[in-house]
Amino acid sequence: MKTVHGFHKMKRDGRKISMVTCYDYTSARIINASDIDAILVGDSVAMVMHGYETTVNATLDMIGTHVRAVKKGAPDKFIIADMPFLVHRKGLAEALHAVDVLIKAGAAAVKIEGARGHLDIIAHIVESGVPVMGHLGLTPQSIHQFGGHKVQAKSNAAVDKLMEDAQALQEAGIFAVVLELIPAAIAKQVTETLSIPTIGIGAGPHTSGQILVFQDLIGMDISFNPRFVRKYANTYDIIHKALNHYNEDVKKQLFPGKEESF
Ligand code: KIV
Repeated sequence: MKTVHGFHKMKRDGRKISMVTCYDYTSARIINASDIDAILVGDSVAMVMHGYETTVNATLDMIGTHVRAVKKGAPDKFIIADMPFLVHRKGLAEALHAVDVLIKAGAAAVKIEGARGHLDIIAHIVESGVPVMGHLGLTPQSIHQFGGHKVQAKSNAAVDKLMEDAQALQEAGIFAVVLELIPAAIAKQVTETLSIPTIGIGAGPHTSGQILVFQDLIGMDISFNPRFVRKYANTYDIIHKALNHYNEDVKKQLFPGKEESF
């Protein structure tokens, strides 16, 4: 899939969309060679690559740098970049500047969290020719307001608000929406109501597609085990063993051998 039309076609055809986050050139090369449909250079880069506690520390400069690296490694994939914390709340000029930077860095679309208070800005970005992905449910840039990573849309009022926001975003012109940490039945309802695809993370099996953080999917962090993550490999173990094996070989003077020497 190379375009937003690919997203729409997959929903129409009933084919599920697979997405992963990516932040670096080496991983991007692996993803580029895989069947994964699209890449998100998420603001989770602040946590996963830079060790911050939340995504609010992801700056435009940071995300732009990682988009450039990912684009070099995955030239064939559709790349979406996250708009950093508050940028789209600081007025149109600031939002458009961020979009300019991210698209020139190599993204084909931007993702913006939330809806209320910046629907006009989203509509303007879309009208300017830049595809926008929405993000509802648990929006991590508002983590301090949520008070933690809690499942959203549990009350009737919260479900109504989510449905209204999803509809409003679709009317503003977004091409797809991430639904994070909401009950599966609610994600199903949103997916059936909207004509655009929904991409779930912790939102059950009924969304049009799924997204996982690359490092979670390949099991790099043994201490991070939320219910919605499935680890498809245990790379923590593989890398840990490889490092200790190398260390042992160095100490025992088994590395480098003749074949690795000149
Ligand atoms: O930044 C990110 O990784 C995300 C995904 C969780 C959707 O926004």
